[in-house]
Order: sequence, then C-alpha cells, then structure tokens
Amino acid sequence: MRKKIVAGNWKMNLELEDALNLCKEIAVSTDKSTEVDLMIFPPAIYLYTMSSLPFETLEIGAQNFYPAEKGAYTGEISITQLSSIGVKTVLIGHSERRAYFGEHSDFLKRKVDSAIENGFNIVFCCGEPLNVREENNEMKFVKSQLIDSLFHLDAKQMEQVTIAYEPVWAIGTGLTATIEQAEEMHSSIRNWLTDAYSIDLSNKISILYGGSCNPDNAKELFACPNVDGGLIGGASLERESFLKIANSF
Ligand code: PGA
Repeated sequence: MRKKIVAGNWKMNLELEDALNLCKEIAVSTDKSTEVDLMIFPPAIYLYTMSSLPFETLEIGAQNFYPAEKGAYTGEISITQLSSIGVKTVLIGHSERRAYFGEHSDFLKRKVDSAIENGFNIVFCCGEPLNVREENNEMKFVKSQLIDSLFHLDAKQMEQVTIAYEPVWAIGTGLTATIEQAEEMHSSIRNWLTDAYSIDLSNKISILYGGSCNPDNAKELFACPNVDGGLIGGASLERESFLKIANSF
C-alpha cells in the first residue's frame, strides 16, 4: 500500500513564534493512529527547534540544502548538517528554486545523489509551466525532468523518493489542475516508473499533487486513483485548513 502524505511547504513565511505555535497546534491535533503521514517544510532557521520538538506525528523536512559535504559556500547548509540536527527529509526540484535560484536539472541530480547517499527521504517536485501546457507538451516536459534528475537512481534508492507533481501555473495562483489533468499526469508518472523500474516499485511510490490545493478541492483530488496526497503551500500556513486537507482522504 502506498503511503498517504500531506506535506506543508511553508516557503519564506511565518516568524518564530507563529511558526512554533502552528507546528505545535498541528502536532497536538494529529492522532498517532492516523494513516496519513504529515510533513512540514519550515524555513531553515526553524529546523533545529522544530525537529527537536517531541512530536512523533509530524515529520520536519528541509526546503533546501547545498550538495557539497562542507566548505566555502557562504550562506548554504549541507545535507550532513541537516542530518546532525535530526532532519531526514528534503524537498528537491521545487519550481521556485528552479526559477529564482537557477537550479537546473544537473544541479538537481547532484542534490538527489547527495540526499540519497546520506540516507535522506526526498520529495522531488516536477511540473510544467503554462506555456508548455498550452503547447500540449506537458507530458514530455515532466518526463524529462524526472529522467534528467531522478531516474538514474536504482530501484532500492528510489524507495526513498516521493514525487510531487506541481503544475507551475497552479502554484499560488488559485488555479488548480482539474481532476482529469491531475490524474492523467499522475498515472503517466506511474507508468514511467513502471517502464524505468517495475510495476512493483511504481506501486510503492507516493505521488503528491501540489498547486492551490485547499480544503475545498483536496477531497476530489485525493480521490483520484494515482494521487496519494498533496504538497500544500498557502493552505498549510493555517492550522484549520492544513488539517482539513489532511483529513480529505
Ligand atoms: P500553493 O503552493 O499550495 O500555495 O499553490 C504549493 C507549492 O508550491 O508547493
């Protein structure tokens, strides 16, 4: 059975007190017996404090790191430093990092390798911009993002990966992929996993949807056979909406 996952990507939002309060409120409202894995990706400055909190129901992951062991990389954080504070999950390939910080596919491949070598779980983001969808090239585009940065992993390593499909035109815009668009892409991703690896592996990998997912649309998105949860931006910044999404299966 594939894991159901709802992950909050806080991006560059919330100051210390609000961040800690939100984290605690989410954790205490979550039952350990829930079958949904909850994750939060807070700003890096809060990682140490949040990952030290004694909550078993919430996985705290990093939005970013630099794929070198150590050295003269001013302002950056290494994967081993993340490991040393108890973080075990990282986000890689988010469209904002690709667009604003020039993270291209070779660099993302290095990040993937660095995370895997250090035993991390990865949430790997992919998704097409609007012009690509308008030209009906979204399948080819997303497939090459996966092939270029992810599919060099072997089957065992791939078990550390969750994929998040996030159409760029839906991120933070209030536009959501229709259930047909989401299911079409998710089932294609699963077929590519089957072709590159095996049906067995493709049935183990969770594929999340991201892009203006909210309490009103989460239920129908999560009901799609190949949508295993969501990567949530804006709607993860408030306890009520995040928990409603987490209860939408
Ligand atoms: P959004 O962001 O839910 O605010 O659209 C999703 C994401 O960027 O992960």
